[in-house]
Amino acid sequence: MALFKKDGKAGETGGQSLPRHIAIIMDGNGRWAKKRGLPRTAGHAAGAETFRTIATYCKDIGLDYLTVYAFSTENWKRPQEEVDAIMRLLERYLGEAIEKMERDGIRLKFFGDTTVLSPKLRELIHETDEITTHVRGFQANVCVNYGGRDELVRAAQRWAERVKAGETAPLTEERFSSLLYSAAIPDPELLIRPGGEQRLSNFLLWQSAYTELYFTDTLWPDFDGEEIDRAIAAYQRRERRFGGL
Ligand code: IPE
Ligand code: IPE
Ligand code: MG
Repeated sequence: MALFKKDGKAGETGGQSLPRHIAIIMDGNGRWAKKRGLPRTAGHAAGAETFRTIATYCKDIGLDYLTVYAFSTENWKRPQEEVDAIMRLLERYLGEAIEKMERDGIRLKFFGDTTVLSPKLRELIHETDEITTHVRGFQANVCVNYGGRDELVRAAQRWAERVKAGETAPLTEERFSSLLYSAAIPDPELLIRPGGEQRLSNFLLWQSAYTELYFTDTLWPDFDGEEIDRAIAAYQRRERRFGGL
């Protein structure tokens, strides 16, 4: 149900047109499973299915980018068996997605330090990157072993290396942005956090400087297209001032 016109105004209610880029913190998998008397990993499996549905939905309504938080730099603190289960799910998901990416017109990109992931996962990510470079259109960025602070420190380190190598241009916001995982991608206009918590949990700290935040108690595995519609409708009613009047 694509209610939104891409370039027009949002009907009577609001000032904003359809966002180009939505970010989602996919939270609440564990609680979803617990409510059903299932192991937490069942929640992660259900959450992976929800990602599939929502990515397709976002593409169909005309977004250009979706960025999802799948595993944070802090999530390694969880019990080893939960971490292992999440990594196995990622492998399975990617194995399946690779075959469908071209057909579905969904390009997948990974944000985060993937060098510490399993060789199998790294190989799948590499394969995905290859396909992504020759598929056009909608792009889903999956944040794995991603942390906003980690991303900023890495960008600072990369800049320091350039300076050491003779860079003389001044550091600007633009140049700094180009060193982030999100280089060349517009900042998300809207960030959605399902699962009831109202915090960023180290997600997109730089990119969300002026992002509109939307929180909902719905747990991620229960999330659907209607929830996206509601979030977009709320976003469209907002007035974005960017510090001006
Ligand atoms: C989000 O769901 C998925 C990851 C962080 C990997 P959670 O696993 O955090 O689910 P809750 O918040 O415990 O319900
Ligand atoms: C944020 O959720 C990370 C992901 C959804 C991948 P968490 O469940 O890890 O966040 P906190 O611990 O509640 O802040
Ligand atoms: Mg959580």
